[in-house]
Amino acid sequence: LPRKRIALMPGDGIGVEVMQATEQVLTVLREREALALDWQRLDWPSTAWHQMHGRMMPDDALDQVRAFDVLLLGALGDPGPLSDAGRYRLPDGVSLEPLLRFRKGLDLWACERPARLLPGAPRYLADPRAAEVDMLVIRENSEGEYVGQGGRLHPGTPHEVATQLEVFTRAATERLIRHAFSRARQRLAQRGESRRFQCADKGEAHAQVCLITKRNAQPAWGELYSEVFAEVALEFPEIGIHHELVDAACMKFVQCPWQFDVVVASNLHGDILTDLAAVLSGGLGLAPSCNINPARRDTPALFEPTHGSAPDIAGQGLANPAAMLLTTAMLLEWLGFVAAAERLRVAVARDLLSASGQSRSCAAVTAGVIAQL
Ligand code: NAD
Ligand code: IPM
Ligand code: MN
Repeated sequence: LPRKRIALMPGDGIGVEVMQATEQVLTVLREREALALDWQRLDWPSTAWHQMHGRMMPDDALDQVRAFDVLLLGALGDPGPLSDAGRYRLPDGVSLEPLLRFRKGLDLWACERPARLLPGAPRYLADPRAAEVDMLVIRENSEGEYVGQGGRLHPGTPHEVATQLEVFTRAATERLIRHAFSRARQRLAQRGESRRFQCADKGEAHAQVCLITKRNAQPAWGELYSEVFAEVALEFPEIGIHHELVDAACMKFVQCPWQFDVVVASNLHGDILTDLAAVLSGGLGLAPSCNINPARRDTPALFEPTHGSAPDIAGQGLANPAAMLLTTAMLLEWLGFVAAAERLRVAVARDLLSASGQSRSCAAVTAGVIAQL
């Protein structure tokens, strides 16, 4: 078999720190598991913007990354010089451009963000049932609130009007929702009938897809999503269905998160809900994520933790690399290195448990995970 190739893009802030940790871990894992795997760094951080005269990446960046099997990104978002409290940061509109360009240009229309509470992870909810949290949020990744169309009319004047267009197509909605149901089916096959969910249609089911909308206030796309959801659900009779308005969903993520299985949401709702879901799994330092095109294995998928560049802790060695390592496990699984992925997940989990709640440096977690490997 040909060797698989990863493009490593550290990015900005703690992205650089967690990428260094990951490279160390990958080096050990590759040797232990005899993985046919290579990687190469593509250093296109926000600081390169100044050197490249106002571009974040070379013009042929998309072609360059298409030569790889997968991309692994630390985080983007210029933290600025550490001493100036963010005064000379590149604006997010500039520094995040590569991320949005990759998602769109590589047609990575589904974003998957699992939330599970590993033993030993920080617990933010008092209810003991919060230990059972095991959900997968699937976020629309190609359109919706992120189409980037809109503008400011009469900026700076009292008459200013800002518009931001949202676009939802039936085609993108249908592929997203069908993907959510097939992931629910897969999860059911893996775990068996151990969980029960209350469902709108059939009372109780062993697997569920919960649709999130704001159809009471935004009926156009809310109704499109609901209609497609009902249609696609017919193809998956064993999966229960449920709907929540996004505001109520936020409440229930905190009040009874164990009642969720697969959650499917628009681009923006999914973004917001997954920072909340991250807290259920112990915080952003433990929340993995991937951007994929489930229908195509021949274009590179993009793996990145849910967190950003964390300017507040960047440069201090305090970032938890676990989110990035769990993301790397998702990447390995995507490439077909299933045993190595599991080995990495187990190493992260054991390290977490052995640290018994102490807060540790990035280097300490990295060393701990390597020791477990
Ligand atoms: P953030 O995710 O960077 O940080 C939020 C909070 O979580 C901070 O207090 C941070 O210290 C903490 N945190 C995040 N990751 C952590 C880790 N691994 N270990 C320990 N603590 C961690 O979000 P933000 O502060 O809103 O955004 C900072 C920058 O990152 C912005 O420019 C934003 O646009 C960008 N961003 C980028 C991505 C991405 O590249 N995928 C994602 C989110 C935000
Ligand atoms: C994420 C991030 C991005 C998003 C930002 C950086 C554009 O918050 O991946 O969750 O909103 O998609
Ligand atoms: Mn986000």
